[in-house]
Amino acid sequence: MRGVILAGGLGSRLLPLTKVTNKHLLPVYNKPMIYYPIELLVEAGIRDIMIVTGGSSSGEFMRLLGNGKDLGLDSVNYAYQEGEGGIAEALSLAQGFSQGEKVIVVLGDNMVQKSIKAAVQSFSKQKEGAKILIKEVEDPERFGVVEFSGEKIARIIEKPKKAPSRFAVVGIYMYDARVFEIVKTLKRSNRGELEITDVNNQYIEEALMTYDVLDGWWKDAGTFESLYQSSCLMRDKHQEKIPLKK
Ligand code: G1P
Repeated sequence: MRGVILAGGLGSRLLPLTKVTNKHLLPVYNKPMIYYPIELLVEAGIRDIMIVTGGSSSGEFMRLLGNGKDLGLDSVNYAYQEGEGGIAEALSLAQGFSQGEKVIVVLGDNMVQKSIKAAVQSFSKQKEGAKILIKEVEDPERFGVVEFSGEKIARIIEKPKKAPSRFAVVGIYMYDARVFEIVKTLKRSNRGELEITDVNNQYIEEALMTYDVLDGWWKDAGTFESLYQSSCLMRDKHQEKIPLKK
């Protein structure tokens, strides 16, 4: 399985922090944000990664990450997204890189507490289709939200006015190689983007989507509040590993 980290976007909700740099280069506690999704994938056994970025600071990723050796990667590839075409469009840039393998896609601002290794391993064994991670949250309307039919996911609604459940779709998605064909069939949404939620709904319609409930906390660090909370939570996680000297 190959890893794709999406690190584009304008980060407009974080202005002026993002006026001269990319959101994913901002600090989260003691590291640039982009380190966390890379470490998450490496820990889950993914060693070949593509970073999809865009905008004026994209060259800085290469300066920061080089060939990825220091972070435990076998190789790091880069792709450049022109414009703001959405998550699914950014993913389509990784088709060549994927070489027909399954892919795990991580939104570069999604910060999680715990390992996702078990989910990755279970998707490795899944014959075909896709797998998402979901998490119960206080403010589901900010995200893609799951509508259930019993235990099964009936569909995902992107940023609904009234959420059908409190389960949000985490920005960590696993797909078989067919995802690139599905992306080609998508139409732009009202916000002018190719929506990852439309990709997921296609797999759900075909009954080829599985899901796990994510263990531990999850933040998308795209707002001032969640960026600040991400730093605090990553600090706690760091302190647990390195107890403070008395
Ligand atoms: C995106 C997805 C949404 C998902 C969220 C997770 O939202 O469209 O379904 O729940 O990431 O962070 P966006 O970052 O485009 O607001």
